[in-house]
Amino acid sequence: MKIDLAVVPVAGLGTRLLPSTKSQPKEMLPVGRKPVVQYVVEELANSDIHRILFVTGNGKESIENFFDVNKELIQFLRQTGREELLESLEFERQPIEYAYTRQREQLGLGHAVLCAEPFVADQSFVVALGDSIIGRHAESNIVERMITEFDRANADVVIAFEELDSASDVVHYGIAQPRGAADDVFELQDVIEKPDVDEAPSRLAVAARYVFSASIFEHLKQTEPGKKGEIQLTDAIRRLLKSGGKGVGLRLTPGERRFDIGNFESYFRAFAEFSLTDPHYGPGLTEFVRSLLGRQE
Ligand code: G1P
Repeated sequence: MKIDLAVVPVAGLGTRLLPSTKSQPKEMLPVGRKPVVQYVVEELANSDIHRILFVTGNGKESIENFFDVNKELIQFLRQTGREELLESLEFERQPIEYAYTRQREQLGLGHAVLCAEPFVADQSFVVALGDSIIGRHAESNIVERMITEFDRANADVVIAFEELDSASDVVHYGIAQPRGAADDVFELQDVIEKPDVDEAPSRLAVAARYVFSASIFEHLKQTEPGKKGEIQLTDAIRRLLKSGGKGVGLRLTPGERRFDIGNFESYFRAFAEFSLTDPHYGPGLTEFVRSLLGRQE
């Protein structure tokens, strides 16, 4: 059966974005017109995902509310003749079933994925991290390409990778060790969570999208806490590869950058790029930013 199920972990505390995230999930922060998590869901819908399980946590209820159909709001907009605003709610009608479970303790990303096991059982599934957008305005079919490769190669795990510009950034990501040449699609020998610069086997960084067979759950159960004392998804993948599981890496294309919302620097950049390229507001905003920069010189 073709994979149509994605797990979206959104339980993280978002401490790097305080105080913005003190009483709202980082996944609900807007980037341009939409909250981050809407881009993630739209991207998944474009790759034929029809079932999404969010792994939420304390304080994340607004994500559940967001994907409900808000009949009152629709009626209000219709009655007041605001048809153009109705269009902005069309995502509510995407052919997706939503489910929610909670990570009851903050034990790391690996543990969050393990919380999905009772729902996923023995199916293969996608993991899409809820704080990363792939491609400007989420125009990417990376997940569809990953699923095709997962089936073709009969793999146990497929991971999307982005080549980092700067070697010093490897300390922030899971880093690939390819077996042989790292072409657009490559065999994965190992993956190391946030290595030191001199230990990094490449500059290929895990880019927030994964496809797994259900065998990952057994490895997650045996994974001890690693970096930051958390159960790391990367460490479970490592175990899977070491025990003979087949791993494949897929590079993002140059036009398919990853926009990370996890810290202010990359969040501000994403917001700037998405709003400057907004079809309606972008041109005026570009003029405004130009005049602002001119005044500073
Ligand atoms: C997580 C993963 C890491 C990955 C990153 C971006 O780290 O553990 O391997 O490279 O997401 O996809 P985090 O950003 O949660 O620290």
